[in-house]
Amino acid sequence: MSDFQINPFYEAIIDGLMSEGYFVSDRFFSEAEVAVLRSNLLKKYDENNFKKSAIGNQSNEKIMDAIRGDFILWMDEAGADEAEKLYFDRINDFVQYLNRTCFLGIQDKEFHYALYPEGTFYKRHLDTFQNDSRRKLSMVCYLNDEDWQDNFGGELTIYKDENGRETEKNIVPKPGRMVIFESQVLEHEVKPVKQPRLSITGWLKTR
Ligand code: OGA
Ligand code: MN
Repeated sequence: MSDFQINPFYEAIIDGLMSEGYFVSDRFFSEAEVAVLRSNLLKKYDENNFKKSAIGNQSNEKIMDAIRGDFILWMDEAGADEAEKLYFDRINDFVQYLNRTCFLGIQDKEFHYALYPEGTFYKRHLDTFQNDSRRKLSMVCYLNDEDWQDNFGGELTIYKDENGRETEKNIVPKPGRMVIFESQVLEHEVKPVKQPRLSITGWLKTR
């Protein structure tokens, strides 16, 4: 641990996670990095690599437009292109810091691109499957256009219990914004979008 350096940015994220269960950062990636990640997503979407998302995992997978309407593409770290390497380098740095300073025991991760076409949404849910509780932290990074407007919809609504009363936190999917939250604790939803909505979404997991 001799080379360990406190990282104030990561410390702020961890403080937020511990006190609120979630944290919103507008500087996890730089503007230039967001532009690279965004054009990479669009390229892969144009190449028809995205598939309609499904509910559940493996055996109980079903397509249900009434619950979720996004198109996704899983990212493969082993075969990562330049933009994806940039993404995973930063995520891995964060994971390493978490594992040195917290007791989450992150051993695994999974990330996918997501595109919500106009009119789609993702109803209120928890990011853990009935038969799999390894997901600990959810991370959503928005790759929308620079001129994304508040009235384009697609807010991420996080439902929280505050002193026994349910509150709603509405987060606008501004480009470059990263939202990190406790996968097993916080129910959330994606409000209907009025413009295509782009993101990379993923989970840090225990083994
Ligand atoms: C999800 C999800 C939130 C968002 O993919 O599970 O809740 O803001 N995404 O895209
Ligand atoms: Mn979710």
